[in-house]
Amino acid sequence: MENTMFDRIGEENIKMLVDRFYDLVFDHEQIAHLFKSDKDEIKEKQRLFLTQFFGGPAVYSERFGHPRLRARHMPHSITEDDAVAWLSCMAKAIGTLPIEESLKDELFKRFVPTAMFMVNTGEET
Ligand code: HEM
Repeated sequence: MENTMFDRIGEENIKMLVDRFYDLVFDHEQIAHLFKSDKDEIKEKQRLFLTQFFGGPAVYSERFGHPRLRARHMPHSITEDDAVAWLSCMAKAIGTLPIEESLKDELFKRFVPTAMFMVNTGEET
């Protein structure tokens, strides 16, 4: 039987990924301004979300309800450029993990459609 992505990456690596990812995001000139909450709080929420997203325990939903990710992102104006910037931070953070290159590729690919789905604002501004 196939292990989940959560098992294959491991809890420690997911924690490390989220930590490095938000350090990059909060420093990114294109998207840093969107993040207004406490950095540790958003890291913790994302850690719980990704744990669940990758097939681990569903603690995010137990605590916060159904993810409804697109709806939760609606209060924030997200352009296609923002999604690309978000993904570039994710690619960098994944690149630092001590896992096989093929697993890194697989992991990154899981984020692409979800990130594009979060785009809720046109580019005309
Ligand atoms: C496409 C680019 C994206 C942008 C610009 C973005 C931006 C944001 C912002 C501004 C917040 C609120 C942060 C705060 O409270 O200050 C947020 C929350 C969150 N984002 Fe994203 N996001 C993006 C994509 C994604 C993707 C692809 C995922 C999942 C794979 C994701 C998962 C989450 C989660 C779990 C939260 C916390 C939701 C909650 O309040 O419970 N985001 N995001």
